[in-house]
Amino acid sequence: MTSVHSHFDAMWAELQPIGRDGRTAGYRRFALTDEDLTLREWFAGECGALGLDLVEDRMGNQWAWWGDPDATAGVVTGSHLDSVPDGGAYDGPLGVVSSLAAVKRMQDNGFRPDRPIGIVNFGDEEGARFGVACAGSRVITGAMTADRALALKDADGVTMAEAMQRAGRSTGIGRDEETLRRIAAFVELHVEQGRALADLDPATSAVAVGTDIWPHGRWRADFAGRADHAGTTALGDRADAMLEAAAFVQAAREEAARRDGESRCVATVGKLDVQPGGVNAIPSHVTAWLDARSSDERLVLDTIAALERRFPGALSQESWTPTTPFDASLCARLQRTLGAHTPMLGTGAGHDAGILANAGVPTAMLFVRNPTGSSHTPEEFAEADDCHRGVDALVKVLEDLASV
Ligand code: GLV
Ligand code: MN
Ligand code: MN
Repeated sequence: MTSVHSHFDAMWAELQPIGRDGRTAGYRRFALTDEDLTLREWFAGECGALGLDLVEDRMGNQWAWWGDPDATAGVVTGSHLDSVPDGGAYDGPLGVVSSLAAVKRMQDNGFRPDRPIGIVNFGDEEGARFGVACAGSRVITGAMTADRALALKDADGVTMAEAMQRAGRSTGIGRDEETLRRIAAFVELHVEQGRALADLDPATSAVAVGTDIWPHGRWRADFAGRADHAGTTALGDRADAMLEAAAFVQAAREEAARRDGESRCVATVGKLDVQPGGVNAIPSHVTAWLDARSSDERLVLDTIAALERRFPGALSQESWTPTTPFDASLCARLQRTLGAHTPMLGTGAGHDAGILANAGVPTAMLFVRNPTGSSHTPEEFAEADDCHRGVDALVKVLEDLASV
């Protein structure tokens, strides 16, 4: 461990136990839970140690500033600390920890930014608890209304409004001009969630510039049946909601596969709710959540249209993010700063960076190589050396962008 990276390594080690499930080794860090509050306090402590000014926007996203963003809009980096159920260690935290390490390095080097530098910890990026991904950035940009966000429910029927109140937060949320006007540019560093970098030249491919995000969305499909006894009800007398739900799961795969060719097209049902939920009761209601994405917007919309024809009235859209190109001149500037060998990559994963880009903020991303290519699972990984190279890259990028 070189001393220049010891700050990153120490922070990384501190975060490891928080929210880790001992049985699966995956992370369960959901919005507005005790784990989330612990992570937020940790973030505030690290920012305090760097002498940054910490402010929370009305949605609870944390922003730590080096310099005054009300005097001049700043360059913002950062990511999120929440996780999917049994997620990996890197998705989100790598960006936050790298940002803190980069700021400390610049401070230690005596760098004086001409414009403020900010680090953000976005709340509820994964949508693991309330169902809509990037809730923190969607609300402050107005991409999701306050009424819709506050009414979202978790699996126990707790609304986001109730969860906010229990955490002592105000529910006076909405588009937040004051916060948005402070952001001149946003660069989110993130672990790569596929194998594109691992398949390139090992000498030059630890870090890539992210150029765009595929269009993606989430839909809910509801199937009604009638509860009855699993032993005494004849097959012919049943209205079993699970049968339609099972057909839907198969159909989603078929419709995506039919279109998956020149452009990638994928559809996934990763979450079900079954009522009444007894092994010996016929399901009276099944809700299936569908995630569909494609590198070509037309293919994902065609997949959904085909499913709507096959299951009339079952689907309702929960979120939709169109094709999101990042700012072309910012991406080119990052590549110039990091060297012409730096790969440029699009991604099928969603990010707060995409929500900010769609709201008109000049935005780009940096991806750090992931040798497993896996994400949203404990298999997600990045070598320590590659994480360090990510911090080095972020330092260069921030020093460039924060200089006049
Ligand atoms: C977030 O990681 C997503 O792509 O769903
Ligand atoms: Mn994720
Ligand atoms: Mn992420």
